[in-house]
Amino acid sequence: MCGGLRRGTLPPPSQELTMTANDHLTQAISDAYDETPYISIPFSFTAPGNLRAVASLYGLDSPTMENARVLELGCAAGGNLLPFALSHPNARVVGIDLSPQQIEAGQHIAEMAGARNLELRAMSLTDITADFGEFDYIICHGVFSWVPPDVRDDILRVCRTNLAREGIAYVSYNTYPGWKASDVIRDAMMLNSFGSETPQEKLARARDMLNLIENGLWDDNPLQSALRHAAQKLRNQSDHYLLHEYLETINNPCYFLEFAAAAQQAGLAYLTDAEPQLGFPTMYGAKVAMGLKGLSVNAGREMREQYLDFAVGRSFRKSLLIHAERAGAISDQPEGSAFIHMHLAAQLRPLPAVAGAPTQQRQFRGSRGATLTSQDPIAHAMMDMLAQAWPQTVPFGAVLEAARAHAPKSSTEDLTSEVLGHIIALVQSNSLLYRLESSAYQAPHTKPTLIAGAQGLLQEVSKAGCQVSMHNLWHQTVTPPADALSRHVMGLLDGTRGALELRSAVRDALTSGRHPHPNGQSYKGARNLEPVAQEFLNSLLTDLRRSGLLLN
Ligand SMILES: C[S@@+](CC[C@H](N)C(=O)[O-])C[C@H]1O[C@@H](n2cnc3c(N)ncnc32)[C@H](O)[C@@H]1O
Repeated sequence: MCGGLRRGTLPPPSQELTMTANDHLTQAISDAYDETPYISIPFSFTAPGNLRAVASLYGLDSPTMENARVLELGCAAGGNLLPFALSHPNARVVGIDLSPQQIEAGQHIAEMAGARNLELRAMSLTDITADFGEFDYIICHGVFSWVPPDVRDDILRVCRTNLAREGIAYVSYNTYPGWKASDVIRDAMMLNSFGSETPQEKLARARDMLNLIENGLWDDNPLQSALRHAAQKLRNQSDHYLLHEYLETINNPCYFLEFAAAAQQAGLAYLTDAEPQLGFPTMYGAKVAMGLKGLSVNAGREMREQYLDFAVGRSFRKSLLIHAERAGAISDQPEGSAFIHMHLAAQLRPLPAVAGAPTQQRQFRGSRGATLTSQDPIAHAMMDMLAQAWPQTVPFGAVLEAARAHAPKSSTEDLTSEVLGHIIALVQSNSLLYRLESSAYQAPHTKPTLIAGAQGLLQEVSKAGCQVSMHNLWHQTVTPPADALSRHVMGLLDGTRGALELRSAVRDALTSGRHPHPNGQSYKGARNLEPVAQEFLNSLLTDLRRSGLLLN
């Protein structure tokens, strides 16, 4: 178990004392989240479809999505389960959390969104036994490092006991060495906020300390750069993040190898990261890759990853676990050829040509900010295709066909290997989403429809204090347009209305003055508003499609 060495130096507490202290801690955690709820958003890398696709890169099969059984431990209000539950009505989705307040909020939201297959229960994960049932995917995000040692043991126990034979568990946690600097900041903030009577006072005093670390460090403080870097990342974080991530009673980061050993002790095997590219040394440049090469000659997969953590100062991990009995089936390296069976998606934007650059060069911007530059027409064809299809997926075979048009003389083998190279480059730039199943998104239709559950969810997320966010089918948070006219039209996007009917609805809303145009201009009583209505509608539908809120 993480941090076990340090605790091992203390004498073992009596059973009675342990029970009392643990109960007290559990109550304190529950109260903290009841008092300041966590905003429960979706994390796309935890999506069961991603876990399945990543596992397949390492040669492992896992259950298909349609009837998958998914469990989330510490799910808060269930915002990370909603996208899957709503888009897989035949799946069984269960979320549990200690905080009754968060669970009640989540149950209400799930009902309003129509997620009938989502069951949210207020309970401790420590009370889960084999009778609770078997799950194909078990997700535990942002919990492991913030709970007492016995609860950490129980997270791994549940991942073993309640995981189907071919299932995949996901556990994220804070790691050293990256968290060492953050530890100092946490200590300093905890010190300054000690004795605070309200969360607000605690936060204010913690932020005072953050300010000192950001702006008041001595130039010769040997930790200056690490501390300032860690403090800057916190500057714009929300109150609930700072309170729960940094100021909770418990925050126990560990080294990756400690986590892997604890998982092994629980009968589990480490598979890879939910974003496996973070474990490729080449992601971090030639210096890191070269430095690790010598060290890693005789090292196993886990030791190589630990070396990499030291090289890059990693502070957070998102580990996939499987039953230990399947460990022998894990490929030592990810198999690029697995992409041949995948469906690919990327939100790419072509960029204007750069002055002075070679004429055959083109650039695209990825959704997470990467700039992708290539002079290869095959790479261009692939990126154009993905950009145009977004948010739909494109099967590998279609990408290969598009590539063939630019290299008609290449053998299928050579072309496949070239396309795979471009796909891997997209993965390394954090720009590619890939799945074994195609996405539910369809080609644009004359009768547009919002994604499942969006109508009900839109009503909820507009309310103050709502604990979940709006999502798309890629499990990404999206911000829907907030103006009254857009909201009015979105309420009509149920697949029964065609373009003409929608345009008339916009025109009527404008002329009656019921829903003003977001450009601020008044059209009340105006005539011949069809062009204005059409332009508004086109722009709204384009935005909704781009953000993944429209199914078609
Ligand atoms: C930092 S929040 C993370 C919430 C959510 N997973 C996310 O990342 O958005 C930790 C959550 O774990 C829950 N939790 C802590 N101890 C728990 C336990 N023993 N059983 C179930 N949930 C627990 C808390 O109530 C809280 O909602």
